[in-house]
Amino acid sequence: MFIISPSVLAADFSQLGAEIKRVEKAGASYIHLDIMDGHFVPNISFGAPVIASVRKNTSIIFDVHLMITNPKRYVDDFLRAGADIITFHYESDDDPAEVIQYVKSKEARVGMAIKPATPAEAVFPFLKDLDMLLVMTVEPGFGGQKMIPETIEKVRAIRTYANEHNIKIDVQVDGGINADNLKFATEAGANIIVAGSAVFNAPRAKDVIDKMKKVADLYPFGSGLDERLEKGKVRKR
Ligand code: DX5
Ligand code: ZN
Repeated sequence: MFIISPSVLAADFSQLGAEIKRVEKAGASYIHLDIMDGHFVPNISFGAPVIASVRKNTSIIFDVHLMITNPKRYVDDFLRAGADIITFHYESDDDPAEVIQYVKSKEARVGMAIKPATPAEAVFPFLKDLDMLLVMTVEPGFGGQKMIPETIEKVRAIRTYANEHNIKIDVQVDGGINADNLKFATEAGANIIVAGSAVFNAPRAKDVIDKMKKVADLYPFGSGLDERLEKGKVRKR
């Protein structure tokens, strides 16, 4: 399923509850909440109490992106605050498998994220245990950056590997995505799209979200893979 997950990093924090309602009404299915600790990334955003506060007004899926060291230590806090999906960084923990199992033991959905310099192959062994793999399309830490085109090939590699091994997984892209460059990500295999500034800074969020949904119809995820399968360019199972 194709999902748009607006990142509140670009929202007006003085009206956070209303901002979430605004993009929810405009057609967003998830809300992306970026947690930065000033250690794993050179920026500080907000923590679990803010999530608990906005949780009161909405039942939309909260897609929580932890850009923090020692993620396992904070999983319970974020789940109690109302997170539905917990995504941690592969680079933030010595034992990613342990973090995955811990989140799963709490019956929550688990995602793992990779920074632009981390190769796709590094996460292949974990894909079968994950609900979602997040390919960062910018260096984590700040909203409003330009998408790094080279990261799109990692989306393709991960979707290809998952398809070849019959692994059902959501592939998320995050950073610098807008209605114009979205087609590269969806065609390569992404099906959950984070967009901060593109959605929150637009005059009308609904126009952007509608446009993004149309792009996804034109370039449905994995279409590139299907084509290459037909041409025999990638091994069939
Ligand atoms: C970057 C964050 C992203 C970012 C998205 O570290 O993980 O979620 O805020 O915002 P835009 O779409 O503005 O790049
Ligand atoms: Zn994010």
